[in-house]
Amino acid sequence: MKKKVLYGVVVLLFFSVIQFNASDTFAGKIDYKKIYNNDCKKCHERDGRGTKRGKKLGVPDFTDGEWQDSVTDNQMIDSITNGKKKMPAQKHKLSPEDIKAVVKYIRFFAPKKKSY
Ligand code: HEC
Repeated sequence: MKKKVLYGVVVLLFFSVIQFNASDTFAGKIDYKKIYNNDCKKCHERDGRGTKRGKKLGVPDFTDGEWQDSVTDNQMIDSITNGKKKMPAQKHKLSPEDIKAVVKYIRFFAPKKKSY
């Protein structure tokens, strides 16, 4: 009987640790895909390559590996927060956490590297 209780406690602990970790990452809380679709897709397109309107304004191709390598996360955060040329600033719309999450989303557009 005692053993069963102990086992239960261990299992409970195990799952609470997993849950804690999941909610600790912003990805668990912030729906970056929704942010992207609401605020960014109209220029950057669902696939990250840019809409007609976006291309006219000069959007980069998020699926271009060289472009991905050329920008740091902090640079993207700055550009999204404060704007960059024709790119509108998002600081009044998105929180710093939202912006960090959406940068992570932009990284998903990068082509898979052969080796790391
Ligand atoms: C009105 C069109 C428009 C919208 C909406 C828009 N962007 Fe952009 N974005 C641009 C343009 C144009 C550029 C290219 C800026 C430049 O370098 O000239 C750009 C550049 C960027 C860059 C590269 C910045 C850099 O440092 O080179 C990132 C990252 C980015 N956008 C993310 C986003 C995200 C995230 C959103 C949504 C929250 C968004 N954009 C919404 C037009 C837009």
